[in-house]
Amino acid sequence: MILCLRPDGKDIYNFMKIGIHHNPGSFSDRWIKYCELNKIDFKIVDCYQNDIIQQLEDCDAFMWHHNHLNYKDLIFAKQLLYSLENAGKKVFPDFKTNWHFDDKIAQKYLFEAFNIPHVPTYIFYTKQDALKWVEKANFPQIFKLRCGAGSLNVSIIHSKKVAINKIKIAFGKGFFLFNRSGYLKELIRRYGAGKDILLNVLKALIRLVILSDNTKMLKKEKGYVYFQEFIFSQGFDIRVVVIGDKAFAIKRKVRKNDFRASGSGDIIYNMDEIPISAIKIAFETTNKIQANCLTYDIVFNEKEEPLILEVSFGFVMFVYDECPGYWDKNLQLHLGQFNPQSWMVELLK
Ligand SMILES: Nc1ncnc2c1ncn2[C@@H]1O[C@H](COP(=O)(O)OP(=O)(O)O)[C@@H](O)[C@H]1O
Ligand SMILES: [Mg+2]
Repeated sequence: MILCLRPDGKDIYNFMKIGIHHNPGSFSDRWIKYCELNKIDFKIVDCYQNDIIQQLEDCDAFMWHHNHLNYKDLIFAKQLLYSLENAGKKVFPDFKTNWHFDDKIAQKYLFEAFNIPHVPTYIFYTKQDALKWVEKANFPQIFKLRCGAGSLNVSIIHSKKVAINKIKIAFGKGFFLFNRSGYLKELIRRYGAGKDILLNVLKALIRLVILSDNTKMLKKEKGYVYFQEFIFSQGFDIRVVVIGDKAFAIKRKVRKNDFRASGSGDIIYNMDEIPISAIKIAFETTNKIQANCLTYDIVFNEKEEPLILEVSFGFVMFVYDECPGYWDKNLQLHLGQFNPQSWMVELLK
């Protein structure tokens, strides 16, 4: 541990103290458990308090699994993390992992700037530019909001007329970030498939008319419009998670009579079903952009080449517990259970 010596002579394993913002049900559950088990010094902090910087004064590192749908997190999570990182603390997620999180507009420019194989995307910031593009566009096109997850803000547009309607809304009243009718439809689908309970369907129905306090605070999405070429996906996408020098993956089947895999809940864990080209591109991209924890949504073109749809530092924790193993940087397979959240803590050392 000579590499990690501090002026006081202690190595990093002895001196590191991590501040963790705890949100039950998020990564922090497992970060805390891992720290306890491995005697890593940590304290729970509360990011929503005005004195968060003071709370972290005695910490070398800070971890926060912030949430893309929580209005408070949307206001300041990135800014807090960047400030602390800039001031010399280790943070998770770090800047290069986080700045494009839940921002498909940022990701368009990221992928183009780094020449990362991706699905061609068209974004317009005026109604006139968008209408001009639509005249010559081929259909179908995929319409998305810059943010959202579980496919809720993603739809397929089959005609110019529908595209024009989307453009009008984008430069008019705007879109709700949380798609309540889409969420209700999704819960009805899940209930029909025996994957959810009636109570949740009823709650979503009520939320159609009575907005939650959080939804009321979310800003509307407007002032841009996002279209993307449609890639015929043969019924699935591949999701690869890279953390440091390890990667694991799942194959997600699309919903019935739909093109969208994200959030379908129909998952194949068999590692033989994961094209190794997807693992490779995920490692290469993480390396290129110098991030250290990213999930990749990947589809394949007609030449079977992987194209990245989306990146995100966050993911639904429990979904990956059934993964039978992971790949290392040399694409060697390692079978057996693992704890991705422990790898996140290890990134800070
Ligand atoms: N351009 C596209 N062509 C084909 N399928 C797509 C395209 N974009 C998205 N999809 C499908 O829709 C799903 C959701 O899209 P994504 O951009 O990942 O949004 P989300 O943030 O909701 O996960 C993907 O998992 C994929 O199955
Ligand atoms: Mg996605």
